[in-house]
Amino acid sequence: MRSVIDILDLSTDELDSLTGTALDIIDHPADYAQACRGKKLATLFFEPSTRTRLSFEAAMYELGGNVLGFSEAASSSAAKGESVADTAKIVSCYADIIAMRHPREGAALVAAMNATVPVINGGDGGHCHPTQTLADLLTIRREMGRFDHLTIGVCGDLRYGRTVHSLINAMSRYEGTRFVLISPEELRVPAYVERETLQKNGVPYRQTADLDGAIPSLDVLYMTRIQRERFSDPAQYERLKDCYVLTPDKLANAGKNMAVLHPLPRVNEISVAVDADPRAAYFRQALNGKYMRMALILMLLSEAEKSADRNISLPDGCLTGAHTCRNPRCISAVEQELPRVFRPDGHEKGVYRCLYCETAAED
Ligand code: NCD
Repeated sequence: MRSVIDILDLSTDELDSLTGTALDIIDHPADYAQACRGKKLATLFFEPSTRTRLSFEAAMYELGGNVLGFSEAASSSAAKGESVADTAKIVSCYADIIAMRHPREGAALVAAMNATVPVINGGDGGHCHPTQTLADLLTIRREMGRFDHLTIGVCGDLRYGRTVHSLINAMSRYEGTRFVLISPEELRVPAYVERETLQKNGVPYRQTADLDGAIPSLDVLYMTRIQRERFSDPAQYERLKDCYVLTPDKLANAGKNMAVLHPLPRVNEISVAVDADPRAAYFRQALNGKYMRMALILMLLSEAEKSADRNISLPDGCLTGAHTCRNPRCISAVEQELPRVFRPDGHEKGVYRCLYCETAAED
């Protein structure tokens, strides 16, 4: 049985096959209307969401299944101090599949390690957001007609934006991908994304703070919100919050087929005047998210039916209890009984990373 916590949990073939299923659902919705009859999806949202939760729920309804869950931590036993592990065990008694969002990095992996049904990560702190990437992929495919040989500009909060980390991971696998990473110095992508994804796969990329200078070279411009809730220093947020605003003037210098994506919600980084431009793909992207979540639910439920194995195995060479994670946003920072597990870095010898949030251990 498999969960999807990180976009890396899906192979390139699987990404292509999910995209194929989503396109088929778009063309033949009636063929899928009873596909999950009798099945239940639990949506466990410990953090606010509009698109992710509602599109998961709409996806399950359109597959003929049912939905249960909660939309804020305050209405679950988390408010009484229940651990993520216990919640996952309990919900496994009531549902066939779980979609979960949590403010702590690594929380979805903890749920997957304890659930007896598949878990889908709908966002864990600033870490990963694989199903947003599925929506992004279908959008790129439908807008651009292909995944290969694209120059992708990613602009805004590349440090805390979890959708960015998962998107870079997915698009790095396709031939000819180039990234232009556009952000202020303080909001550049985390070092582990640069090292473990971009450098390891030899993907060409450059970092710049200059959106205007980058725009003419892009096939896709992926705008993001500055993630206010993840800043520990409110003054830093205030200083950076308006660093990029995409306007029709700026778009005038873009290619006529460039697609503008945004995971949404937007605050003010894309002016409303851009919405009327045919290159603005972000509302279509939100709809694509529903189709990709339908495809993913179908795939995981059909796999779970075939597999009796309910365990997630740890990667080889893990250390338990030797280190404590120093990331204050990690699930292990608040759940004292969670085993402190570190896995070897896939790239750098002798470096260990927290199993849950990927932060490197201190020597
Ligand atoms: C994103 C998220 O939650 O990370 N939203 C979404 O799922 N569509 C982006 C964001 O909140 O900025």
